Amino acid sequence: MQEKVEAPSILVMNSVEVLYDNVMLAIKGVSVQVPKGEMIALLGSNGAGKSTTLKAISGLLKSERGHISRGEITFEGTNITEMLAQDRVEMGICHVIEGRRVFEHLTPDENLTAAAPMGMSRSKLNVEKDKIYSYFPRLAERRNSQSGYLSGGEQQMLAIGRALVTQPSLLMLDEPSLGLAPFLVAEIFGILQKINREEGMSVLLVEQNALAALEIVSEGYLIENGRVVMHGTAEALKANSDIQEFYLGGGEGTDFHNVKHYSRRKRWLS
Ligand SMILES: Nc1ncnc2c1ncn2[C@@H]1O[C@H](COP(=O)(O)OP(=O)(O)O)[C@@H](O)[C@H]1O
Ligand SMILES: [Mg+2]
Repeated sequence: MQEKVEAPSILVMNSVEVLYDNVMLAIKGVSVQVPKGEMIALLGSNGAGKSTTLKAISGLLKSERGHISRGEITFEGTNITEMLAQDRVEMGICHVIEGRRVFEHLTPDENLTAAAPMGMSRSKLNVEKDKIYSYFPRLAERRNSQSGYLSGGEQQMLAIGRALVTQPSLLMLDEPSLGLAPFLVAEIFGILQKINREEGMSVLLVEQNALAALEIVSEGYLIENGRVVMHGTAEALKANSDIQEFYLGGGEGTDFHNVKHYSRRKRWLS
């Protein structure tokens, strides 16, 4: 008998609801799967619920008075719905939050050292740093500069580098392209794709820039109003007329920030 071979999912999020302050229902039954070793995008406009979805997975809701009120999340087969954020990090989930936070008064090299997990040996750390610098040659050049003086793109690279030091099996990135020039987005996304392929690292990428994201992921989920309204391969999404009209910018621009007439027609919601 022929068996269909599918990559098992490293992450399974099943009908998850998130409440903030016990009243604000931010996501309303979101189901997302990340097959092992794949790169998956969560797309959607501002306020759709993308960041909340990532926080539900990494366990960062608590500090914002949010909690999962329904559904469950399993990672590598373990139910992590109630797990502490720190334990999820130790399991291999790394969440690069929006806004490329780095220690500005430290150098990139010191930032990488500070991000290393407790107990990582100096020699192991140096191996990891060298690997990160080989992926991001710009960071290598600036490794001893003060991070506060790096460009936005370099800071984003450093934020990703800080995540890589922890050797995650699932890397989650929240809008890494925000505010960056298109050539930098292309450069960073190209490097992400390379890391994904060479390290076999699973990636969950949150983006408003659908055009750039759909170039590097295998599948995408479109979230609107706290719900997944579309899911498909990158090819299928790029070919979809609603996606083209509302998200790939028919001349209006290439990302969600420029989307006009957005609520005029949303067939997938009806
Ligand atoms: N800490 C919070 N407290 C209350 N409401 C929040 C909080 N964070 C986000 N929200 C609300 O939840 C919804 C989804 O937000 P978010 O997940 O940040 O969307 P996105 O990342 O897609 O822009 C929005 O309506 C937002 O206003
Ligand atoms: Mg967000």
